[in-house]
Parts: sequence; C-alpha cells; structure tokens
Amino acid sequence: MKSYERTILFSTDVFEVVSCKWYKGSTSPSHDHNWSRCSVLIQEGEFKETAVLGFKTESHVLGSGHVFSTLPGSIHEITCLSEMGQTLHVYVPRIDKQNANNKFSISTDQIKEKISLKLEGVGVSWQTVSELVNEVEKFSITTNSPQFMNQLFSGIFPHDLYAQEISARRRTTMATVEASPVYSLMEHEVIQALGKTIGWSPDSCEGLSVSGGSAANFMSIHCAKFKMWPESKVQGIHNSKPTMYVSEDAHYSFLKGANALGFGTESVRSVPTTLTKQIDVQALEEMICSDIKKGHSPFYIAATLGTTVYGAFDPLEDLSVVAKKYGLWLHADAAWGAPALFSKKSKHLVRGIQRVDSLTFDAHKFFGSHLTCSFYITQHPKNLFEANDVNGGEYLFHETNSLDRGRLSWQCGRGPDVLSFWTQWKHLGENGMTDAVDRLLSVAEQAAEWIKTQPRLRLLSDASFLNICVEILPPNGASDKQWSKHVRQKMIAENICMVNYSTEKNGTTFLRLIVVHPQIQLSHIQEILTQALSF
Ligand SMILES: Cc1ncc(COP(=O)(O)O)c(C=O)c1O
Repeated sequence: MKSYERTILFSTDVFEVVSCKWYKGSTSPSHDHNWSRCSVLIQEGEFKETAVLGFKTESHVLGSGHVFSTLPGSIHEITCLSEMGQTLHVYVPRIDKQNANNKFSISTDQIKEKISLKLEGVGVSWQTVSELVNEVEKFSITTNSPQFMNQLFSGIFPHDLYAQEISARRRTTMATVEASPVYSLMEHEVIQALGKTIGWSPDSCEGLSVSGGSAANFMSIHCAKFKMWPESKVQGIHNSKPTMYVSEDAHYSFLKGANALGFGTESVRSVPTTLTKQIDVQALEEMICSDIKKGHSPFYIAATLGTTVYGAFDPLEDLSVVAKKYGLWLHADAAWGAPALFSKKSKHLVRGIQRVDSLTFDAHKFFGSHLTCSFYITQHPKNLFEANDVNGGEYLFHETNSLDRGRLSWQCGRGPDVLSFWTQWKHLGENGMTDAVDRLLSVAEQAAEWIKTQPRLRLLSDASFLNICVEILPPNGASDKQWSKHVRQKMIAENICMVNYSTEKNGTTFLRLIVVHPQIQLSHIQEILTQALSF
C-alpha cells in the first residue's frame, strides 16, 4: 500500500501547516496530540477518522469540505477510503516530539537556579516566562504512559484538558448559586447520579466536590462527629473519649483527619486484617467492646474499598451490622475502589454499599479527572448542611431559598472541579464506565495468571482489583528482602518504568503495579516484569 505524502508548507514553533496527498488505504501515524491542537480540512476524497479519547474510541467517515479538530490529549488516526485524497493540516502549536520518550528519573539541579524568584521586584518579559515554563515542563515526570504505574492514576484525558480550559476561561467559585449557576446544578446532578449508582433513593443524598480523597475522609469524620455530638459544633468535644476504627491497611488520611479535627491520632484504632487483607470484623467488634468498657466513645468506622497497597475491599455487609449494633457512622473510603461501583466483574466487592452513611469518591484516580477532583457523598443531606453551616456568611449567602453550595462546605472559594468528571461520565455513559473498568480488571487478571507461571516472580495475593503486588526474587536462588526495591530503583533510573514498592510485615519488599492507564495492555506489564528479572 502506498503511504501518504506529507509536504510542510509552513513551519514555526507557534504553528505548522502541512499538505498531505493520500492513496487508498494509506493511514497517518497516530500523532500524540498531547500538546497540539490540530485542525484538518479534507480537500478531496473520503476518510475514516479515529480518535482515542481516554477510555473511548470514536470513528467517523468524513468527506470533502469537512473540517475536524483534534482535542489535546487525544490520539488520532486517519485512513483514506478513496482512490486519492488531499488534506490540509494546521497544528497549533507544532507537534512536539520531545515528549516521545518516557522520563522517570529527573534531577532538578539544572533548573533550580532558574526557578528562583530572587525577589528582585522587577518581573521578566512574557517571552522569558514562556521559555522558562517550557523548560520546567521538560523536567516533569511522564505520567501519561502505561509504564507510569507508580500512583493510583496514570494518563492524561482530553476531557479533563478541555474542562480545565473552560474552567479557567470562566473562572468562578462554587460558593454561591449566583456565581456558579450551571456548575452548582451540575454538582447536584453528579451527586444525585452517584447516589443512584450507590443504590440510594432519588434526592435522599447530598454531597460536594472536595480537594481530594483525604479531604473527603476528613469530612466524613467531621459529619460523624456532628451526628454523635451535635453540641460539638458550638462547644467542641470535651469529656467524651472518641474512638474511630479503620483497618491497618487504611489510608493515612484518617490519622491526619483525627489530628486536624482535634481527636488526636491515638483515637484511631488500627484493626488487623485477615489473610485476604480485609478488615477482621471479629477483631473490630472486640476492640469496640473493649473501648466501651474502658469508657471510650466509639463513633465511626471507615471501610476501605480498594486499599492503597493491596487493592482489598473491606466487607461492607458485615461492617454495617456492627455499625448498626453499636450506633456508629459507617463511612466507605472508595477513593481508589469506586470503579467497582460501575463494574460487572467486581460489583460483588461493594455488596452492601447502600448501607453506608457516607462515601469518598476520587474522580482524579481511575476516572482521569484533574488533580484533585473528589466527592464526599452522604445519604444524610441535613447532616452535611447542619454540620457545616455557620453564621457569618450573610455577606455572601443572600438567597435563603436557593442552596448555595458553599454552605455545605468548609471551603469558601472552590473551583468547578465537577466539570472535569461530568465530561468524562457524560461521554462514557454507564456502559462506557463499565467497559473501562472491566477491561482493565481483565488486564490485571491476565497479568496475575502470567506472573504465576514465572518462577522468579511471587504474586502476593490474587489480583481482585487493579493492584498487582509481586516480589521479584533475586537470581540464582539468593535471598534478599530488599531485591524488589533495588530493582525498582534501577528501573526508574533507567527510565524503564515508574512503579512503586511496599514492604511486607517481615520486611520483604515487593513491587506494586497499578493497572490504570486507559491504554494499558498485558504486554506492557509483561515487558516491565521481564526487564525486572534481567537485573
Ligand atoms: C484508599 C485511599 N484513600 C484515600 C486516599 C487519599 O486520596 P487523595 O490523594 O485524593 O487525597 C488515597 C490515596 O492514594 C487512597 O489510596
């Protein structure tokens, strides 16, 4: 098949104009439009245009006279369907090849001096600033790569870049309906849709976007405190000795929350986990009883849905029985595990979800919204309002009949983060969300099966979610608890991949690979682990 012919008509850093001549079946390379907006005019012939937009791929057939535009962050391909074709492309800015290689190991020594603000009083020209920003960008870790498996997010999403652009253009605050009429409506809509997904009845829930899963966990402790001790809003907590319960594998934000909210970190009981890394419900109940006997006041249990390291899901049905028996607030930290709500394959992991009092949902992890876009959602709307509404906001909250969302929040100014997640959900729909989660769950399952066939790879537990925890055994039957950590550092230093590591109770280190990049395949994981075995 004859390939297409590309003629650059004009090229500067700012933009590039390219004319292309096509033959039947010729296909363009998939340009990585991370940074460039490309507009294409079809001058002659019929073409198939395919766009990979995060989790979803769309195709259209377009004829002569059509113009289409790519979204930054998307991957595009066009194929000529006619005998001959002609197109004109404008790239703004020019496609930048510098992002082609993964960068996982970066020293900032060379840029340190340039970043200094020097506090000289006189600014520099915009030209200088933009050159500096371009340079700063080169010192950024490549997070848009299937080889970036270090965090619970990976990839950039065209929806998010688009939403961020609109949010910046229409910069506003979520505090009042008058300042953000449409975004307030949208936030309400997303909260109601999340409530429906959880299984709560329509309009029985409330919530808001918060600045991360940690903040949502904080909010849950705060709301549980208000439920148990409503007077604490005015008087603070004095004589009770409050205690809360999380699994030993829960996120550290519960300790931070206990500290920030004045309970102290000692009030957080770390409940042991079972062999499957789930909270030990019997041990939990024993701890609650023992605390009551000692005169403490248990008020809160947090189940983790998708633990940070192992991806385990605490058993909600059993926990809800304990919570009810002792009159405790049950929160679900689904910062990482929320995709299971949409999944067919892993729906069983969240059985009993409708019984929780509140939930943390991170849209910036699996769902690719901008960092940070999280939601706190509760089935006690009055509680959220009463726990957070205080006097003193009369200068801002004028309308008594419209619920200004700032009254639910402890933030005053708050951006319309919701737009980023709304665009993703609207585009994928329920089915697209399900497909996205279930495809990645299949990749994780296949990877786990493959790992089991490799003599020098030890899988710590069967992948029930998107976390693959695997020990790299040293060569020649040697024993070295630090080997996986050593391999990890080597792979980062050589820009092979960025994966995290953790440590078992006996001190053995292991790799944690997170399967979350929207384009990740089994082969990516096999390649990484094959490299890991070569050290
Ligand atoms: C289970 C869990 N909860 C909460 C958080 C905190 O989320 P964020 O980073 O959005 O504050 C994390 C972060 O990794 C997490 O894994």
